[in-house]
Amino acid sequence: MKIVGIRVNNLVKSYELSGKQIKVFDGLNFHTYKNGITVILGKSGCGKTTFLRILANLENMDEGSIDIPGNKKIGFVFQEPRLMPWLNVYENIAFVLGKKETKESKGEILQLIETVGLQNFEKAYPRQLSGGMKQRVAIARALIYDPDIILMDEPFAALDYFTRKTMQDELIKIHSLTKKEILFVTHNIDEGLILGNKIVIFANGQVIKEYDIDDNSYNRDLLSEKFIKLKQDILKNIN
Ligand SMILES: Nc1ncnc2c1ncn2[C@@H]1O[C@H](COP(=O)(O)OP(=O)(O)OP(=O)(O)O)[C@@H](O)[C@H]1O
Ligand SMILES: [Mg+2]
Repeated sequence: MKIVGIRVNNLVKSYELSGKQIKVFDGLNFHTYKNGITVILGKSGCGKTTFLRILANLENMDEGSIDIPGNKKIGFVFQEPRLMPWLNVYENIAFVLGKKETKESKGEILQLIETVGLQNFEKAYPRQLSGGMKQRVAIARALIYDPDIILMDEPFAALDYFTRKTMQDELIKIHSLTKKEILFVTHNIDEGLILGNKIVIFANGQVIKEYDIDDNSYNRDLLSEKFIKLKQDILKNIN
């Protein structure tokens, strides 16, 4: 049975820009599934990043509410890895804990480095890593908080096709290992269809369409009739 996770109720948000009001959300409503991967799809400027920032409390909303079950610990993976160049892989992850190292925390960090497939790279500096490897460090850094929810804002957008594919597989693996709830923002419909167990489409300040994808195999054939139809429908709605 699917349990409701985050619930967004009538969210309204405007920005002021050069004395003018820009309305980003005008009654945004949707919910996610607990422990699922919810994909947010929408054109550039439709408010995807703004939504994640509101959810992470980095931005205020004007009206509405967001209900988050659990103890609301949130991890954020940005579009760029945002690693500290003077710290190695291990230190970049340890840094966010902001406390003295214990035997326990050291074990956890090493375990996470293994989870994201970077064993033997603990001592490497960001400049010695590929783009995909850096992004994996960013994912490990988000996981070290042991968040209930991970927000990912186009995390693989800058990667080439093959690295992106590998990272999607990695993410599916990490998700099945950790069962963390993930909100994943992307422009890429195929990526959404591969990862999401729910896809929500943002347009004109609202959620204009939601799709449940009841396929937990994660061996999805995007060339099957079902997914081709779904993709066509998403394309029609996004425009
Ligand atoms: N700090 C800000 N001040 C004023 N306007 C802003 C601010 N942040 C975002 N906006 C505006 O809000 C709208 C939504 O921006 P947002 O970054 O959320 O879009 P997005 O869907 O993430 O786009 P992209 O896919 O290009 O990343 C845009 O019109 C943008 O100009
Ligand atoms: Mg954005």
